Amino acid sequence: MDRITVTDVRKTFQLKNGQNVVIDGRPSDRLTVLNGVDLSIRKGEFITLVGPSGSGKSVLLDIIGGLTQASDGVVSLDGNIIAKPDPKTGYVFQQYALFPWRTALSNIEYALEVRGVGKRERNQRARHFLALFGLSGFEDRYPNQLSGGMQQRVAIARALATEPEVLLMDEPFAALDAQTRDILQGELLKIWEKIKTTVVFVTHSIDEAIFLADRIVIMTARPGRVKEIIDIDLPRPRDADIRASSEFNIHRAQVWEALRDEVSKAQRDGAFSSPLAH
Ligand SMILES: Nc1ncnc2c1ncn2[C@@H]1O[C@H](COP(=O)(O)OP(=O)(O)O)[C@@H](O)[C@H]1O
Ligand SMILES: [Mg+2]
Repeated sequence: MDRITVTDVRKTFQLKNGQNVVIDGRPSDRLTVLNGVDLSIRKGEFITLVGPSGSGKSVLLDIIGGLTQASDGVVSLDGNIIAKPDPKTGYVFQQYALFPWRTALSNIEYALEVRGVGKRERNQRARHFLALFGLSGFEDRYPNQLSGGMQQRVAIARALATEPEVLLMDEPFAALDAQTRDILQGELLKIWEKIKTTVVFVTHSIDEAIFLADRIVIMTARPGRVKEIIDIDLPRPRDADIRASSEFNIHRAQVWEALRDEVSKAQRDGAFSSPLAH
C-alpha cells in the first residue's frame, strides 16, 4: 500500500534582492529546483534519497513534510493532499535542532507534550526512547553537555518517541565522524526493524544510502527529477559486515554509475547558476 505519493511535483523559487541565475546563457530571477518529480513510497518502506548538491532533495523533503508548498503537482499522505505539517510526520535535520535550555529528557517530553500526551506517559516514553539509543544516565544533561553523536541520538529519539507514521531525515548524520555515523546507522536500523515506520532519508553517502535502504531514489542534477530507483535486496537485519559483501559492492558501482553524470553536470552548472551558497 502506498503511504506517500508524489505526482509531477515542480518547485520554482522567485529570487529576491535582484539575485539572478544563468540558465541556458540567459539571466533569470526564477530558479526551477524540481521539475516533474514522481514517486510512490510504500507503507513501512525505508527510502534513501541521493543526488548532487542543489538537486532539490531538501526542498522535496520539505514539500513532503508540508513545510513548503509545491508550485505544481500533488503530494499526498494516505490519500490526503499534504498542505501543512502533519502531526503524524516526524523530522530530523542535519543540525541537532534541540532546545539548548532543556535537558535531553525534557526535549523529548516537550515533543510529546505538544501532542497532548499526559505527564506520566511522556516521562516514561522519553526514558524508554533515550534508553533505546543508549542514553540512560544522560537524561538530565543539556545539549551542550553532550557530544554531537549524542545530541543527534536525542534528536532521533525525540522524533521516534512521537511514534511518527512517516519520518523525514535530512542528512542527519552528515556532521558526525565516520565511526559514530556507522554506529548510528546500525542503531537506527535496529529500531526501525521494530517499528517499521515509513522513512525518507536524504544522504550524500552512497554507503549510507545502500546500508539503510529498501530502495534508493537517485535524483538528477537541478532541476531535480527522479533519475533512477534502485532496489536494495540485501537481507535484513543488516549488520556492519554487510558493507564488505560482494552484493554491497555491486550496489556501490550501480549507484555511482547512476549518479556520476549528474554530479558532473551539477558541478559544471554550479559555477554559473547557484544563487545561494551551500
Ligand atoms: N527559499 C529559497 N529561495 C531560493 N532558492 C532556494 C530556496 N531554497 C532552496 N533554494 C535553491 O534550491 C536548490 C535546491 O536546494 P536544496 O533542496 O537545498 O538542494 P539539496 O539537494 O542539496 O538538498 C538550491 O540551488 C538552492 O539554492
Ligand atoms: Mg539538502
